[in-house]
Amino acid sequence: MSSSAQARVRVRVPAKVNVQLGVGGLRPDGFHGLANVFLAVGLYDEVTVTAADRLTVTCSGPDADQVPLDATNLAARAAAVLAERHGLGAPRVHIHIDKGIPVAGGMAGGSADGAGALVACDALWGTGASRDELLEICAELGSDVPFSLVGGAALGRGRGELLTPLPVGGTFHWVFAVAEGGLSTPAVYAECDRLRGDLVIPEPDAAAAVLDALRAGDAAALAAAVCNDLQDAALSLRPSLARTLAVGTGAGALAGMVSGSGPTTAFLTKDEQDADRVAEALRISGTCRAVRVAAGPVPGAVVL
Ligand code: C5P
Repeated sequence: MSSSAQARVRVRVPAKVNVQLGVGGLRPDGFHGLANVFLAVGLYDEVTVTAADRLTVTCSGPDADQVPLDATNLAARAAAVLAERHGLGAPRVHIHIDKGIPVAGGMAGGSADGAGALVACDALWGTGASRDELLEICAELGSDVPFSLVGGAALGRGRGELLTPLPVGGTFHWVFAVAEGGLSTPAVYAECDRLRGDLVIPEPDAAAAVLDALRAGDAAALAAAVCNDLQDAALSLRPSLARTLAVGTGAGALAGMVSGSGPTTAFLTKDEQDADRVAEALRISGTCRAVRVAAGPVPGAVVL
Protein backbone atom coordinates (compact mmCIF):
# COMPACT_ATOMS: atom_id res chain seq x y z
CA MET A 1 0.00 0.00 0.00
CA SER A 2 2.95 2.34 0.55
CA SER A 3 5.98 2.60 -1.69
CA SER A 4 8.44 4.15 0.81
CA ALA A 5 9.62 2.39 3.98
CA GLN A 6 8.98 3.90 7.45
CA ALA A 7 10.77 3.38 10.82
CA ARG A 8 7.73 2.55 12.91
CA VAL A 9 4.13 1.98 11.90
CA ARG A 10 1.03 1.79 14.10
CA VAL A 11 -2.23 0.30 12.79
CA ARG A 12 -5.61 0.23 14.49
CA VAL A 13 -7.98 -2.66 13.71
CA PRO A 14 -11.57 -3.18 14.91
CA ALA A 15 -13.43 -6.17 16.33
CA LYS A 16 -16.42 -7.68 14.52
CA VAL A 17 -19.81 -9.00 15.46
CA ASN A 18 -21.80 -11.30 13.19
CA VAL A 19 -25.36 -10.06 12.80
CA GLN A 20 -26.02 -13.21 10.80
CA LEU A 21 -23.89 -16.34 10.91
CA GLY A 22 -25.52 -18.87 8.61
CA VAL A 23 -23.55 -22.12 8.71
CA GLY A 24 -23.89 -24.73 5.94
CA GLY A 25 -22.71 -28.32 5.94
CA LEU A 26 -19.13 -29.47 6.53
CA ARG A 27 -17.10 -29.19 3.27
CA PRO A 28 -14.49 -31.74 2.21
CA ASP A 29 -11.73 -29.22 3.11
CA GLY A 30 -12.87 -29.18 6.77
CA PHE A 31 -14.53 -25.75 6.58
CA HIS A 32 -18.24 -24.90 6.52
CA GLY A 33 -19.90 -22.84 3.79
CA LEU A 34 -21.11 -19.61 5.35
CA ALA A 35 -23.48 -16.72 4.83
CA ASN A 36 -21.76 -14.44 7.27
CA VAL A 37 -22.90 -10.85 7.78
CA PHE A 38 -20.09 -8.98 9.52
CA LEU A 39 -20.30 -5.62 11.26
CA ALA A 40 -17.10 -3.93 12.46
CA VAL A 41 -17.48 -2.36 15.91
CA GLY A 42 -15.37 0.13 17.85
CA LEU A 43 -13.30 -2.15 20.06
CA TYR A 44 -9.74 -2.09 18.79
CA ASP A 45 -6.36 -3.77 18.81
CA GLU A 46 -3.36 -1.60 17.94
CA VAL A 47 -0.47 -3.27 16.14
CA THR A 48 2.88 -1.43 16.12
CA VAL A 49 5.82 -2.68 14.07
CA THR A 50 9.46 -1.59 14.23
CA ALA A 51 12.55 -2.86 12.41
CA ALA A 52 14.44 -5.55 14.38
CA ASP A 53 17.09 -8.27 13.88
CA ARG A 54 14.50 -11.02 13.98
CA LEU A 55 10.79 -11.62 14.44
CA THR A 56 9.54 -10.97 17.98
CA VAL A 57 6.01 -10.41 19.29
CA THR A 58 4.96 -8.70 22.53
CA CYS A 59 1.50 -7.91 23.82
CA SER A 60 -0.05 -5.50 26.34
CA GLY A 61 -3.57 -5.01 27.70
CA PRO A 62 -5.69 -6.71 30.36
CA ASP A 63 -5.76 -10.12 28.61
CA ALA A 64 -2.21 -10.02 27.24
CA ASP A 65 -1.17 -13.19 29.10
CA GLN A 66 -3.64 -15.23 27.01
CA VAL A 67 -2.12 -14.21 23.66
CA PRO A 68 0.38 -16.66 22.09
CA LEU A 69 3.64 -14.86 21.25
CA ASP A 70 5.12 -17.60 19.05
CA ALA A 71 4.90 -18.28 15.30
CA THR A 72 1.23 -19.33 15.66
CA ASN A 73 0.22 -15.73 16.37
CA LEU A 74 -1.57 -14.49 13.23
CA ALA A 75 0.40 -11.23 13.34
CA ALA A 76 3.67 -13.21 13.19
CA ARG A 77 2.30 -15.36 10.37
CA ALA A 78 1.19 -12.27 8.42
CA ALA A 79 4.71 -10.78 8.65
CA ALA A 80 6.27 -14.09 7.56
CA VAL A 81 3.97 -14.51 4.54
CA LEU A 82 4.49 -10.90 3.34
CA ALA A 83 8.28 -11.12 3.76
CA GLU A 84 8.45 -14.41 1.88
CA ARG A 85 6.27 -13.21 -0.99
CA HIS A 86 8.47 -10.14 -1.45
CA GLY A 87 11.80 -11.96 -1.26
CA LEU A 88 12.81 -10.47 2.10
CA GLY A 89 13.61 -13.84 3.72
CA ALA A 90 12.82 -14.16 7.41
CA PRO A 91 10.79 -11.19 8.70
CA ARG A 92 13.02 -8.75 10.64
CA VAL A 93 10.42 -6.99 12.72
CA HIS A 94 9.23 -6.45 16.25
CA ILE A 95 5.44 -6.60 16.50
CA HIS A 96 3.69 -5.15 19.52
CA ILE A 97 -0.02 -5.81 20.00
CA ASP A 98 -2.02 -3.61 22.36
CA LYS A 99 -5.13 -5.71 22.94
CA GLY A 100 -8.52 -4.11 23.31
CA ILE A 101 -10.48 -6.97 21.70
CA PRO A 102 -11.43 -9.98 23.90
CA VAL A 103 -9.04 -12.91 23.36
CA ALA A 104 -10.60 -16.09 21.85
CA GLY A 105 -13.95 -14.35 22.28
CA GLY A 106 -15.61 -14.75 18.89
CA MET A 107 -14.86 -11.13 17.94
CA ALA A 108 -11.99 -11.74 15.48
CA GLY A 109 -9.25 -10.42 17.79
CA GLY A 110 -6.61 -12.75 16.35
CA SER A 111 -7.76 -11.93 12.83
CA ALA A 112 -7.50 -8.20 13.60
CA ASP A 113 -3.86 -8.70 14.61
CA GLY A 114 -3.15 -10.59 11.37
CA ALA A 115 -4.68 -7.86 9.21
CA GLY A 116 -3.02 -5.13 11.29
CA ALA A 117 0.46 -6.67 11.11
CA LEU A 118 0.10 -7.17 7.36
CA VAL A 119 -0.81 -3.53 6.68
CA ALA A 120 1.84 -2.33 9.16
CA CYS A 121 4.66 -4.47 7.71
CA ASP A 122 3.70 -3.43 4.18
CA ALA A 123 4.22 0.20 5.20
CA LEU A 124 7.35 -0.55 7.31
CA TRP A 125 9.11 -2.40 4.49
CA GLY A 126 7.69 -0.36 1.61
CA THR A 127 6.59 -3.57 -0.11
CA GLY A 128 3.76 -1.70 -1.85
CA ALA A 129 1.41 -4.70 -1.95
CA SER A 130 -1.85 -4.03 -3.80
CA ARG A 131 -5.15 -4.15 -1.95
CA ASP A 132 -5.93 -7.39 -3.81
CA GLU A 133 -2.66 -8.99 -2.71
CA LEU A 134 -3.29 -7.95 0.90
CA LEU A 135 -6.78 -9.47 0.73
CA GLU A 136 -5.36 -12.67 -0.77
CA ILE A 137 -2.83 -12.98 2.08
CA CYS A 138 -5.59 -12.24 4.62
CA ALA A 139 -7.70 -15.10 3.22
CA GLU A 140 -4.66 -17.41 3.48
CA LEU A 141 -4.26 -16.45 7.17
CA GLY A 142 -7.87 -17.13 8.21
CA SER A 143 -11.53 -16.91 7.26
CA ASP A 144 -12.24 -13.68 9.19
CA VAL A 145 -8.97 -11.84 8.40
CA PRO A 146 -10.12 -10.20 5.11
CA PHE A 147 -13.03 -8.58 6.95
CA SER A 148 -10.68 -7.18 9.60
CA LEU A 149 -8.85 -5.42 6.77
CA VAL A 150 -11.93 -3.90 5.11
CA GLY A 151 -14.25 -3.25 8.10
CA GLY A 152 -17.62 -1.52 7.73
CA ALA A 153 -20.24 -4.17 7.03
CA ALA A 154 -19.93 -7.03 4.57
CA LEU A 155 -21.40 -10.33 3.53
CA GLY A 156 -18.81 -13.13 3.71
CA ARG A 157 -19.44 -16.17 1.51
CA GLY A 158 -17.30 -19.25 0.94
CA ARG A 159 -15.71 -19.96 4.32
CA GLY A 160 -16.25 -16.28 5.17
CA GLU A 161 -13.39 -14.81 3.12
CA LEU A 162 -15.28 -13.82 -0.07
CA LEU A 163 -16.55 -10.37 0.82
CA THR A 164 -19.23 -8.12 -0.61
CA PRO A 165 -19.46 -4.72 1.13
CA LEU A 166 -22.91 -3.87 2.47
CA PRO A 167 -24.53 -0.43 2.79
CA VAL A 168 -25.43 0.62 6.35
CA GLY A 169 -27.84 3.49 7.01
CA GLY A 170 -27.02 4.29 10.64
CA THR A 171 -25.02 3.49 13.75
CA PHE A 172 -25.82 0.42 15.87
CA HIS A 173 -25.08 0.44 19.60
CA TRP A 174 -23.83 -2.75 21.22
CA VAL A 175 -22.85 -4.12 24.61
CA PHE A 176 -20.42 -7.03 24.79
CA ALA A 177 -20.20 -9.32 27.81
CA VAL A 178 -16.78 -10.94 27.94
CA ALA A 179 -16.90 -14.44 29.42
CA GLU A 180 -14.30 -16.12 31.62
CA GLY A 181 -11.91 -18.04 29.33
CA GLY A 182 -12.15 -18.53 25.57
CA LEU A 183 -13.82 -21.05 23.27
CA SER A 184 -11.97 -22.79 20.46
CA THR A 185 -13.53 -21.98 17.09
CA PRO A 186 -12.93 -25.50 15.64
CA ALA A 187 -14.50 -27.02 18.78
CA VAL A 188 -17.64 -24.90 18.37
CA TYR A 189 -17.99 -25.84 14.68
CA ALA A 190 -17.49 -29.50 15.61
CA GLU A 191 -20.18 -29.22 18.30
CA CYS A 192 -22.51 -27.62 15.72
CA ASP A 193 -21.94 -30.66 13.45
CA ARG A 194 -22.51 -33.04 16.35
CA LEU A 195 -25.81 -31.37 17.33
CA ARG A 196 -26.98 -31.46 13.71
CA GLY A 197 -26.27 -35.18 13.41
CA ASP A 198 -27.53 -36.51 10.07
CA LEU A 199 -29.64 -33.47 9.18
CA VAL A 200 -29.13 -32.33 5.58
CA ILE A 201 -28.15 -28.66 5.78
CA PRO A 202 -29.04 -26.41 2.84
CA GLU A 203 -26.55 -23.83 1.51
CA PRO A 204 -27.00 -20.78 3.79
CA ASP A 205 -28.00 -17.45 2.31
CA ALA A 206 -28.01 -13.88 3.59
CA ALA A 207 -31.39 -13.04 5.14
CA ALA A 208 -33.18 -10.20 3.34
CA ALA A 209 -34.46 -8.93 6.72
CA VAL A 210 -30.86 -8.55 7.99
CA LEU A 211 -29.67 -6.72 4.88
CA ASP A 212 -32.75 -4.44 4.85
CA ALA A 213 -32.35 -3.56 8.55
CA LEU A 214 -28.67 -2.69 8.03
CA ARG A 215 -29.48 -0.56 4.99
CA ALA A 216 -32.21 1.26 6.92
CA GLY A 217 -30.06 1.69 10.07
CA ASP A 218 -33.05 0.23 11.98
CA ALA A 219 -31.92 -1.33 15.28
CA ALA A 220 -35.34 -2.83 16.17
CA ALA A 221 -35.61 -4.49 12.75
CA LEU A 222 -32.03 -5.78 12.99
CA ALA A 223 -32.72 -7.14 16.48
CA ALA A 224 -35.69 -9.11 15.11
CA ALA A 225 -33.55 -10.56 12.31
CA VAL A 226 -30.17 -11.40 13.94
CA CYS A 227 -29.32 -15.09 13.83
CA ASN A 228 -26.26 -17.14 14.74
CA ASP A 229 -26.22 -20.82 13.72
CA LEU A 230 -23.27 -21.41 16.10
CA GLN A 231 -25.21 -20.19 19.13
CA ASP A 232 -26.66 -23.56 20.16
CA ALA A 233 -23.20 -25.12 19.90
CA ALA A 234 -21.58 -22.37 21.99
CA LEU A 235 -24.36 -22.71 24.60
CA SER A 236 -23.96 -26.48 24.62
CA LEU A 237 -20.23 -26.11 25.39
CA ARG A 238 -20.76 -23.19 27.79
CA PRO A 239 -24.30 -23.45 29.29
CA SER A 240 -23.65 -20.53 31.68
CA LEU A 241 -23.90 -18.12 28.71
CA ALA A 242 -27.69 -18.54 28.85
CA ARG A 243 -27.67 -16.63 32.15
CA THR A 244 -25.66 -13.77 30.65
CA LEU A 245 -28.08 -13.60 27.70
CA ALA A 246 -31.05 -13.49 30.09
CA VAL A 247 -29.51 -10.62 32.09
CA GLY A 248 -28.85 -8.51 28.97
CA THR A 249 -32.25 -9.02 27.39
CA GLY A 250 -33.95 -8.63 30.79
CA ALA A 251 -32.21 -5.24 31.15
CA GLY A 252 -33.79 -3.99 27.92
CA ALA A 253 -31.47 -5.02 25.09
CA LEU A 254 -33.37 -5.36 21.80
CA ALA A 255 -31.55 -8.65 21.15
CA GLY A 256 -28.91 -10.82 22.78
CA MET A 257 -26.78 -13.34 20.95
CA VAL A 258 -23.52 -15.21 21.09
CA SER A 259 -20.87 -13.31 19.10
CA GLY A 260 -19.49 -15.58 16.36
CA SER A 261 -18.24 -18.80 17.96
CA GLY A 262 -18.40 -17.19 21.43
CA PRO A 263 -18.07 -17.09 24.32
CA THR A 264 -18.53 -13.29 24.18
CA THR A 265 -22.24 -12.39 24.14
CA ALA A 266 -23.45 -9.38 22.14
CA PHE A 267 -26.45 -7.18 22.95
CA LEU A 268 -27.98 -4.81 20.44
CA THR A 269 -29.57 -1.74 22.04
CA LYS A 270 -31.79 1.14 20.90
CA ASP A 271 -29.24 3.88 21.56
CA GLU A 272 -26.17 4.86 23.58
CA GLN A 273 -28.15 5.46 26.81
CA ASP A 274 -29.76 2.01 26.64
CA ALA A 275 -26.34 0.50 25.95
CA ASP A 276 -25.02 2.08 29.17
CA ARG A 277 -28.02 0.75 31.13
CA VAL A 278 -27.62 -2.80 29.78
CA ALA A 279 -23.86 -2.63 30.42
CA GLU A 280 -24.43 -1.65 34.06
CA ALA A 281 -26.91 -4.52 34.59
CA LEU A 282 -24.40 -6.99 33.14
CA ARG A 283 -21.55 -5.54 35.22
CA ILE A 284 -23.38 -6.04 38.51
CA SER A 285 -24.86 -9.43 37.55
CA GLY A 286 -21.67 -11.42 38.11
CA THR A 287 -22.44 -13.44 34.95
CA CYS A 288 -19.44 -12.21 32.95
CA ARG A 289 -15.81 -11.17 33.41
CA ALA A 290 -15.96 -7.75 31.75
CA VAL A 291 -18.36 -5.54 29.83
CA ARG A 292 -17.61 -3.30 26.83
CA VAL A 293 -19.80 -0.83 24.97
CA ALA A 294 -19.12 -0.17 21.28
CA ALA A 295 -20.88 1.10 18.18
CA GLY A 296 -20.58 0.12 14.53
CA PRO A 297 -19.98 0.17 11.66
CA VAL A 298 -16.40 1.49 11.85
CA PRO A 299 -13.61 1.32 9.24
CA GLY A 300 -11.24 -1.66 8.99
CA ALA A 301 -7.46 -1.55 9.47
CA VAL A 302 -6.20 2.06 9.50
CA VAL A 303 -2.60 3.30 9.68
CA LEU A 304 -2.42 5.87 12.50
O1 C5P B 1 -10.23 -19.83 9.06
P1 C5P B 1 -9.94 -19.97 10.52
O2 C5P B 1 -8.50 -20.28 10.79
O3 C5P B 1 -10.45 -18.85 11.34
O4 C5P B 1 -10.77 -21.24 10.98
C1 C5P B 1 -10.53 -21.87 12.21
C2 C5P B 1 -11.31 -23.16 12.26
O5 C5P B 1 -12.72 -22.86 12.35
C3 C5P B 1 -11.18 -24.05 11.03
O6 C5P B 1 -10.07 -24.87 11.13
C4 C5P B 1 -12.49 -24.82 11.08
O7 C5P B 1 -12.43 -25.86 12.05
C5 C5P B 1 -13.48 -23.79 11.60
N1 C5P B 1 -14.17 -23.09 10.49
C6 C5P B 1 -15.12 -23.78 9.76
N2 C5P B 1 -15.78 -23.14 8.74
C7 C5P B 1 -15.51 -21.86 8.45
C8 C5P B 1 -14.56 -21.13 9.18
C9 C5P B 1 -13.89 -21.79 10.21
O8 C5P B 1 -15.40 -24.95 10.02
N3 C5P B 1 -16.17 -21.27 7.45
